[in-house]
Amino acid sequence: MANIIILGAQWGDEGKGKLVDLLTEQADCIVRYQGGHNAGHTLVVGEEKFVLHLIPAGILHPGKTCVIGNGIALDPQALIEEIDDLSRRGIPVESNLKISDACHLILPYHRAIDKESEKLKGTRRIGTTGRGIGPAYVDKMARIGIRAGDLAHPKIFREKLSQNLQEMNYLMEKLFRAHGLDLESLYSEVMTQGERILPYLTDTSLYLWEEARKGSSILFEGAQGTLLDVDHGTYPFVTSSNASAGGALTGTGLGPTMIDKVLGVTKAYTTRVGSGPFPTEQTGPEGERLRERGQEFGATTGRARRCGWFDAVAVRYAARINGLTGIILTKIDVLDHLETIPVCTGYRIGTRMVTEFPHHIEDVANAKPVYEALPGWKATTRGIRRWEELPKEAQEYVRWIERQVGVPVIMISTGSERSETITIQEPFPASS
Ligand code: IMP
Repeated sequence: MANIIILGAQWGDEGKGKLVDLLTEQADCIVRYQGGHNAGHTLVVGEEKFVLHLIPAGILHPGKTCVIGNGIALDPQALIEEIDDLSRRGIPVESNLKISDACHLILPYHRAIDKESEKLKGTRRIGTTGRGIGPAYVDKMARIGIRAGDLAHPKIFREKLSQNLQEMNYLMEKLFRAHGLDLESLYSEVMTQGERILPYLTDTSLYLWEEARKGSSILFEGAQGTLLDVDHGTYPFVTSSNASAGGALTGTGLGPTMIDKVLGVTKAYTTRVGSGPFPTEQTGPEGERLRERGQEFGATTGRARRCGWFDAVAVRYAARINGLTGIILTKIDVLDHLETIPVCTGYRIGTRMVTEFPHHIEDVANAKPVYEALPGWKATTRGIRRWEELPKEAQEYVRWIERQVGVPVIMISTGSERSETITIQEPFPASS
């Protein structure tokens, strides 16, 4: 038995979905704890491709319980679409999914405000996914949010909706010069969605605590990545939740002593979507090549991802912020074509040399990466399943990352299939 957090150690899109799917085999409960349907996990099982935005990737495994914790911003429409799509494809959801009644709802006005506010920001825009995530969390913090459990109380729900709409419509009409929303139609739309969602709602904190006491193994599935964390990321170019390990606790209602391991997933290079500083970004042909070879297009928005070299400063920071106990390295095969591989060991900021991730966004924006060139392996690593079969230079690349980050690499992903994985150290203890 073990409770493990698995999260992104970069700016998201590290390939967590496949790993969560793989580790699910040894877990009993799989939990999402922050973010919403801004996340997108692509999974390939045999000939079938699944893209999940909200429901934990563990849903593809029969007999596992998937939990959407209180830290999630829940768009009822997106959830229903995902449930229906999975059901159509023969994946049972009803008996395997539990949703916290304390999740805050993303409502149509959040989506509208997200988009309008981005337009208003102009060149300062964050490049959000436009899913209404930020505005829903704003309401949560402003203590006017509507929670999933409110759907069980039509009168209370209607009152809250009515009050919020006064404020939201004022904002829409007066500030954004856009159309407001009609209370009656919004109320009936969300109540209809509520009928589908209510059966899944429960006190998931209590459920998980009881499961843990029974000896179940819980896998906490992070979304986005550490550098998009609202507190510890490259603020303000971040998402609006705690994508770092702390989010797994506040977003589920379990205590820190219940966590056994924290695993950080990182690509063998770096990508980022949306705006914000990215020191090792390659805007020329080398970045283009990484994008093509890595198929770096967003699972949620289809946007082309910005690509660059591995940044040890950033991943070392993620190791510290999350207390990482292990690293899972993904997409090493994308580097197969390179003669030499630049890797960033530090930043030059003005006249200063730094090896710790800067605390201020201006310093990250002005950081000039200092590179070391590691020898490439010029051979295919795609689909390799044993450490010994990796070319010597690829093994050295992995060892270099371990030394730089100070955390052991315990798994390496060499392709999108579950089987295309090298396991150096089993994440779950043998007895679980
Ligand atoms: P939001 O989460 O939609 O508010 O977007 C805020 C920032 O986080 C933008 O730069 C997005 O591109 C980024 N972002 C949100 N979700 C993901 C994700 O799942 N992967 C990578 N980037 C994301």
